[in-house]
Amino acid sequence: MSQPKVLVARRIFPEVVGRLRECFEVDWYDENEPLSPEQLRRRLAGKQGIFASGTEQITADLLDACPDLKAVCLMTVGYNNVDLAACTARGVKVSNAPDVLTETTADFGFALMMAAARRISESEHFLRRGDWQQWRVDLFAGADIHASTLGILGMGRIGQAIAKRGALGFGMQVIYHNRSRLSPEQEAPLGARWVSKDELLAQADHLILVLPYTPESHHIIGAPELALMKRTATLTNIARGGVVDEDALAQALGEGRLAAAGLDVFEGEPQVNPRLLALNNVVLTPHIASASVPTRRAMCNLAADNLIAVLTGGVMKTGLNGG
Ligand code: DGY
Repeated sequence: MSQPKVLVARRIFPEVVGRLRECFEVDWYDENEPLSPEQLRRRLAGKQGIFASGTEQITADLLDACPDLKAVCLMTVGYNNVDLAACTARGVKVSNAPDVLTETTADFGFALMMAAARRISESEHFLRRGDWQQWRVDLFAGADIHASTLGILGMGRIGQAIAKRGALGFGMQVIYHNRSRLSPEQEAPLGARWVSKDELLAQADHLILVLPYTPESHHIIGAPELALMKRTATLTNIARGGVVDEDALAQALGEGRLAAAGLDVFEGEPQVNPRLLALNNVVLTPHIASASVPTRRAMCNLAADNLIAVLTGGVMKTGLNGG
């Protein structure tokens, strides 16, 4: 009997491709440059499965052009690049990769927040430029993390892991806003308090965005929201670029209406808004919050587990629409 055909749509760990090759006829696009929509359509035609990341757009049009497709397995937790409703309507099973990246991503979010608050990138660039002439009392004096108020927008697994670091590691007061409240049993060990979105913005010393990107969360932080924040506050985004209006953010940072920001994700990534690039008080990283070697390997293996399960009559570990 012939094996199912799958496309691995980007360069990943070769041993994970090796696992897939034990079960499937694999077409491996072993490049870092993403496939164009047209290349993706051509290479996916006739395949039953795809191992994908957050960059391949899985649209209704693509599904119609690839009627043999049965499974879309993402190595990312975010799945805003997949039209889940269109997949479900066509019986295509979809999985993402939650849990395995939670702690690594929370570590990075916390680090980015600290880098912004304590002006780590800005001061390093200053030093490397040879601008350090003398020690000064106010040299790169920033904001404290310990004992300050940590605001979290989006209190899923990663939000809770960040809250744990803030509350238990740094003695921060944790406030959060999320569609659903945590149970009292979840809130109590973190001392976490649900507040309205406006309260969150007004009270947080350090606001961190960890919510999914959906049509509803597009530009959820724009000029009116930034205007509610403290001038001394920081904003960290490890969600998706589209949750922030970057022009409004650049304006607020440039005018000193917000102290600093840490951004790992960008609306037009890998392009970065030039207004952000021109500012000193923003720490910019290239979408690497989950990028530790063990975690990236675990993300790839989870996607492979799901693909193998669903195309060999089993059940996905982390399916999004059954399967
Ligand atoms: C995720 O898993 O969604 C990360 O942001 C990497 O894209």
